[in-house]
This record gives sequence, structure tokens and C-alpha cells, in this order.
Amino acid sequence: MTVRAILHMGDPRLLEPARPVSDFSDPALQTLLVDMHETMAAAGGVGLAAPQIGVGLQVVVFGFERSDRYPQAEPVPRTVLINPVVTPIGDDEDLGWEGCLSVPDLRGEVPRWRRIRYRGFDAAGRTIDRSADGFHARVVQHECDHLAGVLYPMRIRDFRRFGFIDALPPDVAAIDPD
Ligand code: NI
Repeated sequence: MTVRAILHMGDPRLLEPARPVSDFSDPALQTLLVDMHETMAAAGGVGLAAPQIGVGLQVVVFGFERSDRYPQAEPVPRTVLINPVVTPIGDDEDLGWEGCLSVPDLRGEVPRWRRIRYRGFDAAGRTIDRSADGFHARVVQHECDHLAGVLYPMRIRDFRRFGFIDALPPDVAAIDPD
């Protein structure tokens, strides 16, 4: 069990597309998942993608029952999601403020699909097939973007809605997906 270093924006490894997991029985996968949970907990995040700790595999973890940092946030089921595929349901988008453990001290307003279906596999290789909306949908889109080498600033449309947490107006009720 190891808390791993989180890569910061500018590291080219965050821009590389991740490879799918092919062997769910590989002990290294279970070790990776333990490390990801430890790292996420130590950082106080609600999600983490494997490329953020320098592992180029299609693995994300997310979820919380209640966040002390974000008591107003709706709960998101604790999930290990491997080889995910995300598709929008409908055309509606929501704008919401996001942060990222790989982009410390900053937040920006990011458009995301309001409602999505996501499919993939859990740690044992069992199928996951869910629909989600709201913050749950935002977290999944944010984490799965990491697997495509996309960081949230690359999705910002209005850069007036991007800045340092300590300088943004206090009414910016941002919730950091990770
Ligand atoms: Ni992130």
C-alpha cells in the first residue's frame, strides 16, 4: 500500500491515451487499485485516474458517501471502473466548476453532458452498466477524460471563468472531481 505522487499538468504522461486492461487476474492490477484508493484518500479527492499516478491504463476510481470538504455534494457510489465507455444521453449540457488534483490551486467552469450512460468493468472483471446525471455524471466524465489525455482546462470555453481558488469569488461553489 503506497500513496503515490500525483502528476501535475505539464507532465507529458497526462496527455497520453491510456491502454485497456487485458488481464483482470494480474496481481499488479489489484496493487494499482489499492495504491489509487490510498492516493485518492490521502489527497482528499473523490476520484482518481491511473494516468494521474503515471500508469497508462484505463482505470479510474471514484465515489464517496459524504465528503467533509463538500458537504453539499450528492453521494456518488464508490466505484472501480476499468476500460470505460461513456456515451451521452440526450444533448443537454451543464456548466459546473471543477478542480483537479493534477491542476492544483485552480478551478474552472466546464461544460459536461447532463446525463450519461457508462459501461466498463469492476476490479473482478464484472460488467458495470449505469446511467448517471448531475455530479455523478460530471465526476465520471472528468475521470474518463484523463484516460484520453484530456485535462479539464482543455474543455473550458470561457477563460474568464478560470482562476485561482484563493482569488475566485467565494460564491464559486466548486466541487473538485479529483
Ligand atoms: Ni482530474
